[in-house]
Amino acid sequence: MDLFEYQARDMFEAHGVPVLAGKTATTPEQAEQAAAEIGPKSGGVTVVKAQVKTGGRGKAGGVKVAKSPEEAKQLAQDILGMDIKGHTVGTVMIAQGADIAEEYYFSVLLDRANRNYLAMCSKEGGMEIEQLAVERPEALARVAVDPNVGIDEAKAQEIVQQAGFDAETGAKIVPVLQKLWDVYAGEDATLVEVNPLVKTGAGDIVALDGKVTLDGNADFRHPDHEALEDTASTDPLEAKATEKGLNYVKLDGEVGIIGNGAGLVMSTLDVVAYAGEQHGVKAANFLDIGGGANAKVMADGLDVILGDEQVKSVFVNVFGGITACDEVANGIKGALEILGDNATKPLVVRLDGNKVDEGRAILNELNHPLVTQVDTMDGAAAKAAEFAGSAK
Ligand SMILES: Nc1ncnc2c1ncn2[C@@H]1O[C@H](COP(=O)(O)OP(=O)(O)OP(=O)(O)O)[C@@H](O)[C@H]1O
Ligand SMILES: [Mg+2]
Repeated sequence: MDLFEYQARDMFEAHGVPVLAGKTATTPEQAEQAAAEIGPKSGGVTVVKAQVKTGGRGKAGGVKVAKSPEEAKQLAQDILGMDIKGHTVGTVMIAQGADIAEEYYFSVLLDRANRNYLAMCSKEGGMEIEQLAVERPEALARVAVDPNVGIDEAKAQEIVQQAGFDAETGAKIVPVLQKLWDVYAGEDATLVEVNPLVKTGAGDIVALDGKVTLDGNADFRHPDHEALEDTASTDPLEAKATEKGLNYVKLDGEVGIIGNGAGLVMSTLDVVAYAGEQHGVKAANFLDIGGGANAKVMADGLDVILGDEQVKSVFVNVFGGITACDEVANGIKGALEILGDNATKPLVVRLDGNKVDEGRAILNELNHPLVTQVDTMDGAAAKAAEFAGSAK
């Protein structure tokens, strides 16, 4: 899960990372009020910052300096509702204005390729770090971090030295990097990035921006992380699926897909993409019902998919393994009973693998008007695409 900047700011503060005052607002009036509260800390200057989970906000016009609460109100009016790379701004943060002398860059992340953590640091922070990494890689220090040790004082020293900081600035940055490591390890993050980490005119080091990605696999250790979830912009069907413990991703097409196992579902997406070309349709979603495809799971899955108005047909592609095809067929049967009149779209079912004959027999006997059985994956994809195409 990615956090908004204001959430990262709060998390930094809780771990002792130096940050400036900040308050969120969802209306221009709230922004004005926040600027009136925060502005006096910094000579009346605040910064209005779009809260969207994407980079390049500044360049897109989503970060603006305000010299008065009235100006903050006006800027918030402009920024709220703005579209930044497909993200609509619903919240701004009013941040205390910083007197910036220099902008640096720091991040620590999970380095999957090397099965390690990686810290990156540069004296040249600001808005174009990706460009810097490509054009002048030598200006970006890359230091491996041993997960068993983390960023202790020695490691932080190594990082600032490699980035080329002078001794005085380096000494001020070292404790901040240790605190940022506290955030990374303590919150089970896979990314903590600060761009810019600034030195102020007074010589203090402050994190002016923050990007944090939390590892969802560690949620059980962090009950407080649940509150950070952005339920407002989660797709309602994805939210419903998550609630039911299903792995569901909404896509843009017309053929709903249910399969067991991520690998099978991915290849089902491929065959539907191929078959769909002929009928001008695409896959509508990715839904993996996993190993235990009983009636309840199947009903939940179908319920989610049929709830998507864009879906015109559903392709159920199951390879019986530990869960045998007869159980899956009974699952489909039970799901259709549970859903009753709510099941309205054609289902193309392809069963194969363990107890395939029993499974197919159950569905043949059911003889449900919405269910069509096809023996092969390609054939079933073609049929589902044909149904979706003619219903469009
Ligand atoms: N509180 C602040 N006071 C003064 N200047 C600021 C403040 N916050 C940001 N800025 C300036 O605006 C620039 C862009 O801000 P920020 O880093 O938050 O957004 P961004 O880099 O465009 O967004 P992202 O990191 O999502 O790409 C900073 O590099 C800094 O120069
Ligand atoms: Mg930034």
